[in-house]
Amino acid sequence: MKKTLLILMAGTSLLSAAEGMKIYGAKCAECHGADGKDISVSGKAIAGNKGTLAKLQGYKNGSFGGEQKATMQGSIADVSEADLQSVAAYVDGLK
Ligand code: HEC
Repeated sequence: MKKTLLILMAGTSLLSAAEGMKIYGAKCAECHGADGKDISVSGKAIAGNKGTLAKLQGYKNGSFGGEQKATMQGSIADVSEADLQSVAAYVDGLK
């Protein structure tokens, strides 16, 4: 029983990683690059950082951001909380 649960959990996080990659490609790569290292729009790489979810939530509720935060707010306005979690997990994994 425990084993089944573990396998289920591993399966879910794999799924969510794949989901995060898909969302990243559709919603983020145009500005941050496929590898999260394009700085031409955002001024800094997002790859190699942790805590992406807190930043994304901060953009959404207005508590985080720099001079260009309106750009990020617009980019994630229609991204659900569940999708933010998936994409944040993916971005945290970018090196
Ligand atoms: C239209 C261009 C654009 C898109 C699309 C976009 N971003 Fe951004 N992103 C920016 C800009 C510009 C900034 C800098 C904003 C600021 O001044 O705070 C930024 C900042 C960030 C930061 C904060 C970096 C830091 O440490 O300060 C993170 C994390 C981030 N973006 C993740 C994402 C993710 C994940 C997505 C997709 C869901 C996304 N961005 C989509 C332009 C974009």
